[in-house]
Amino acid sequence: MYVYVSELPMPFPPRVRKRIFWQMTVCALGLLVLLLYWFPVRNLELLIPLDVCPSATMALLKDNFTGDLRLWNRPDVLTCTSWKAPIIWDGTFDPDIAQREVRRQNLTIGLTVFAVGRYLEKYLKRFLESAEKHFMVGQRVVYYVFTEQPAAVPRLALGPGRQLRVEFVVRERRWQDVSMARMRTLHEALGGRLGREAQFVLCMDVDQHFTGSFGPEVLADSVAQLHAWHYRWPRWLLPFERDARSAAALARHEGDFYYHAAVFGGSVAALRRLTAHCAQGLRLDRARGLEARWHDESHLNKFFWLYKPAKVLSPEFCWSPEIGRRAEIHHPRLLWARKEYAEVRD
Ligand SMILES: *[C@@H]1O[C@H](CO)[C@@H](O)[C@H](O)[C@H]1NC(C)=O
Ligand SMILES: *[C@@H]1O[C@H](CO)[C@@H](O)[C@H](O)[C@H]1NC(C)=O
Repeated sequence: MYVYVSELPMPFPPRVRKRIFWQMTVCALGLLVLLLYWFPVRNLELLIPLDVCPSATMALLKDNFTGDLRLWNRPDVLTCTSWKAPIIWDGTFDPDIAQREVRRQNLTIGLTVFAVGRYLEKYLKRFLESAEKHFMVGQRVVYYVFTEQPAAVPRLALGPGRQLRVEFVVRERRWQDVSMARMRTLHEALGGRLGREAQFVLCMDVDQHFTGSFGPEVLADSVAQLHAWHYRWPRWLLPFERDARSAAALARHEGDFYYHAAVFGGSVAALRRLTAHCAQGLRLDRARGLEARWHDESHLNKFFWLYKPAKVLSPEFCWSPEIGRRAEIHHPRLLWARKEYAEVRD
């Protein structure tokens, strides 16, 4: 006996089928939400492979402080730039050689930090205490804290050869202005006592704390920090200033990496040039009624595009715990605090 296919009984009546369709849709949406929760969109960047340094360049790279770099120790990440500067990752340098070299040259290392408004009470103590444990341990260090409330700077017991100086700055009204006045203030300080006392200086944001050794392996004529949020992104996606009227503007095909203004440094002379350039760019923009997308960080990125840094620090040196685990990040050395802008920026 034949049964026509079209006459086969449907497994469910239409009403039930409709209900099943809706149940499946709701389930699928629920799964998607759970998936995004466990596996944030940010993790899609893991699908972008990291570049690797060509072996011809690896063999050549030397460093003034660490001597030979073992760049092949990290085949999983990019360890050099196209202009043959090293990108410092855990495992590529010998920290003891850098320590000895700094002592041999009898260097003093400066660390500047701005603690203005609520940033002071909220972050400065932890920043300094953790710096005493991890920043240039065993070296001569001079901290420069810039603040409008010198009396509120915590008194810490500092290790031998370490000093803390408090510099008064006037408080700007908006936090954008605080961040932008920083370059001008640093430029003046580098031309004064700070520049006479230290030979190399690191400039850092205060809303972070040290969690691992941050030693002289980071020193060079000019030092830039890869931004933890952006080191895997393709160049055209990086958040450079794109408004051509701004002094910080970079065209689509310009820019090497996106650098984080939370850490930069170098020799006093190189930092004088950097801060002069950024302060001038900020002034020009202000005169035109503009404000670059990421304020002084945009101008810093423009500077490092024009004048390439001699050394680049991997995101291990300034990591954001909000990103979660990444296989290539072995020992974070500085961690940003959670951003609580509403609380500290008014
Ligand atoms: C090392 O530098 C310090 C401070 O800059 C100075 O007081 C000291 O005399 C120097 N030591 C040598 C051996 O040059
Ligand atoms: C190494 O030192 C020399 C001389 O002091 C300097 O010209 C050069 O720029 C330094 N290199 C780096 C990578 O800082």
